[in-house]
Amino acid sequence: MAFSLANSTLFSKPSIFLHRRSLAFCLHFSSISTALPSDKVHSPRKWRHPVAASLVELGGVKIAREEIVKDDPTNNVPDSIFSKLGMQLHRRGQHPLGILKNAIFDYFDTNYPNKFNKFDDLCPIVSVKVNFDDVLVPADHVSRSYNDTYYVDSQTVLRCHTSAHQAELLREGHTHFLVTGDVYRRDSIDSTHYPVFHQMEGVRVFTPADWEGSDTDATSYAAEDLKKCLEGLARHLFGGVEMRWIDTYFPFTNPSFELEIFFQEKWLEVLGCGVMEQEILKRSGRTDNVAWAFGLGLERLAMVLFDIPDIRLFWTTDERFTSQFSKGQLGVKFKPFSKYPPCYKDMSFWISDSFTENNLCEVVRGIAGDLVEEVKLIDNFTNKKGMTSHCYRIAYRSMERSLTDEEINDLQWKVREQVESKLKVVLR
Ligand code: PHE
Repeated sequence: MAFSLANSTLFSKPSIFLHRRSLAFCLHFSSISTALPSDKVHSPRKWRHPVAASLVELGGVKIAREEIVKDDPTNNVPDSIFSKLGMQLHRRGQHPLGILKNAIFDYFDTNYPNKFNKFDDLCPIVSVKVNFDDVLVPADHVSRSYNDTYYVDSQTVLRCHTSAHQAELLREGHTHFLVTGDVYRRDSIDSTHYPVFHQMEGVRVFTPADWEGSDTDATSYAAEDLKKCLEGLARHLFGGVEMRWIDTYFPFTNPSFELEIFFQEKWLEVLGCGVMEQEILKRSGRTDNVAWAFGLGLERLAMVLFDIPDIRLFWTTDERFTSQFSKGQLGVKFKPFSKYPPCYKDMSFWISDSFTENNLCEVVRGIAGDLVEEVKLIDNFTNKKGMTSHCYRIAYRSMERSLTDEEINDLQWKVREQVESKLKVVLR
């Protein structure tokens, strides 16, 4: 997947595989409006030792590891992902993601005083229904596949976007809201992709009284308002930048757009948005309304605003990182404390029919954790017998210290073993 931290490209693709149906598990517990408790609820201890936990507390509800990580074909959640549940980086006021979230809140609070309700503690474990069905993701859409999404069971997923909360909040009667949360996607490994990242969703509903006074139709009215609002937000975050709108596709909006800004000599995709599909509003009992919705990836924006070169840094507890940021200070440039040398290891194998790069990356991440910087396909060929060989180059690099040869050889040895046993490939 290309550099897209809204990772919106996943939804920009019209369709492809698999089909699953569902019910609920833990729907959202706490709905916070405006003032948020943020940092206060987290003890530093909990931040620092997530991996050892076998119980995670989400919005006041305790969930055991066994409920989320199961030895069952309908479950594909590894321990490394379980350990991220409840971390809620976006609720830490001194963390770049929390600082960015609060800067976006400031924009909405200034321009729409007391209008937008804010939710940032909604449970990330959601039903397939709310994650996909309620926002009209087609039954055969690629994002529903076990290759792309973490399933707790056939009916329950770790939300892969904050759009999972749209329909429910509408049904509860909310008309202006911002939802921030951790989202989960199986993906490749490089400096801009991590299987957990953070999104913010915005929704605004209009009633006929809003557009009747204008000389445009409801859809154009909402689209225009949306663009004005988001251009203002981009200026609030990035200053006076050049912007452009790109037409795109999302299952839940029509028309759909992406906003790009010209920043540091490049066009950068900032967010995905559009006029909400009428069907979503209709099913939420809002037949006469129109609405807009947007979704943005916090990491992608924070990497640019704070000059953070690697997405793994958001998860580090190294004080040389954390001490560089403070509450309310958007855009302080991160000074790399040091760059430790990478170590590259190549691995070639004959793939099986079921081989996917996401599965490979999960095996590697399961063994090497955040010591793996990149997994890259460097050679690919099919022989006369129709057997396909892949060669992957794995870059190991710690952001905190030098790695020893012995340590890396040990990791690579384990990777080779597990790749062969778990992915049914034949090493060459
Ligand atoms: N949910 C989309 C994604 O994750 C982003 C989006 C939200 C697009 C709302 C349009 C409207 O890619």
